[in-house]
Amino acid sequence: MPDQTSSVEVKPLPNSISVGHALPIWTYCSEELLELEYESFFLNSWQMAGHTCDLQNPGDFITLDMWRDSVVIVCGEDHIIRAFLNICRHRAMRLLDGKGNCGSAIQCPYHGWTYRNDGSLRGVTQTENFPCIDKSVLGLQKVELKIYRGHIFVNLCGGGARVEDTLGAISEEIDLYSPDTYEQHLEPTFEVWNCNWKLAWDNYQENYHIPIGHPGLHRMVESTEEGIEFSGGFNFGYFAMREKRSKIPHERRYQELIGHTDHRFPPGKGRKWLQLALDPNMGIEYYPDLFVLFQVFPLGVNKTLVKTSTYSPPNLSPEEREMQEINLMLLHEVNEQDKMLVERIQRGVHTSGYRPGPLALEESSVYAFHERIRALIPVTRLPEAPL
Ligand code: FES
Repeated sequence: MPDQTSSVEVKPLPNSISVGHALPIWTYCSEELLELEYESFFLNSWQMAGHTCDLQNPGDFITLDMWRDSVVIVCGEDHIIRAFLNICRHRAMRLLDGKGNCGSAIQCPYHGWTYRNDGSLRGVTQTENFPCIDKSVLGLQKVELKIYRGHIFVNLCGGGARVEDTLGAISEEIDLYSPDTYEQHLEPTFEVWNCNWKLAWDNYQENYHIPIGHPGLHRMVESTEEGIEFSGGFNFGYFAMREKRSKIPHERRYQELIGHTDHRFPPGKGRKWLQLALDPNMGIEYYPDLFVLFQVFPLGVNKTLVKTSTYSPPNLSPEEREMQEINLMLLHEVNEQDKMLVERIQRGVHTSGYRPGPLALEESSVYAFHERIRALIPVTRLPEAPL
C-alpha cells in the first residue's frame, strides 16, 4: 500500500494555474489502477460519515460503507462518539448496517460475541470453547475520528489533508451556515452510476458543463468570483441567484423566496450557496435552507455508488420549508442530468484511438485532481495502459 500517512499541505493556489490535459482514457478502465486509487485516495482521506445530530443517545450508530471497507460510528454510554471497523474480531462478520440504535451492546450476528458501545469486548458465547481468551485485547478496532462543526469525519489509514486545514481554511464562511445546529432530515439516498468513480468526481468539480448540462441551474444561479482553489485537493465557490428571474415557476419561486433566509445571516452575507469540493470524492454544499453531502465511492472499475445525505437548519419557517422542497427537487433533477452525462462519457472512454483534448480554465479543478493522481500514481502519466 502506498505510504500516504503524512499530512498534505493545503494552501491557496494562484488564480490562473496552467491547465493541461485530462488523464488518458485507459485510467478510466483499469481494474489494477482502481486498486491503487482506492489505497492512495480513499483509505488515506477524511470521509464525512454523518453529523452529531445522528448520534444523540447512547447506542445510536451510523455506518459508512466504502467499497470493501465499512466503519461504524457509535455513541457510547458516556456520550463519546467513537469509530470502529464494522467487523467482528472473531471472524470478520459485518456487524451493523445503515443506522439505528444498538442499545448497550453490539451483537455479532454469526456466533454472538457482544461488544459494548465503547468498542470493548463484553462477552463471548460458549466461553468453554476459548480456554485462554484475553477479552481486553479483542475489542473492535478503532478508526480515527474528528468532529468539525458537528460534521463527523473518519479516516481509515490516517493520511490525506487534515480537516482543520481544508474546511478549517474557510471556517468563517462555513460558520455563516451554522452547521453545528443541523437537524436530521431525510435518510441518505444511494444510487449506482455506470461510470468510473473519477468521471463522477471530474464532473462534480467543474462548472464548465453547467450552461448546457444543467439548464435549470443555469437559469437560476451564477457562479460568483469569490471561490478559491487550494493545493491538497480542495476548492470552494459560491453560487448567487441571478438578477433575471427564471421563467420556470418553481425556479422563479425559489429565487423569490431566498430573502426569507436573511434572518440566518449577518446583513449582506446570505442568499448564496456555498459549495466545496474535497478530493477524492466529497461535494459539501451549504444552502441557506439545506445541507447536502454528495459522495462517490467506487464499486468496480465502471460502477460507482453515489450517496447523498441531507441535513436541515433548525426551525424553518413555512417559506423556508417550501424552498427546501424546491431545492430537493432541483437537486434530484441535477443528479439525474449528471448521471446521464457521466454514463455517456463512460461509453466514450472505451473508444479505440481516442486522445483527450485540452481542459478549459473552468476545468482547472479537474486538472489539479488529475495532477494529484499523476503525482501519487506515476503510472497514470503513461499514454497507454502498461502491460
Ligand atoms: Fe462474530 Fe464469530 S464472527 S462471533
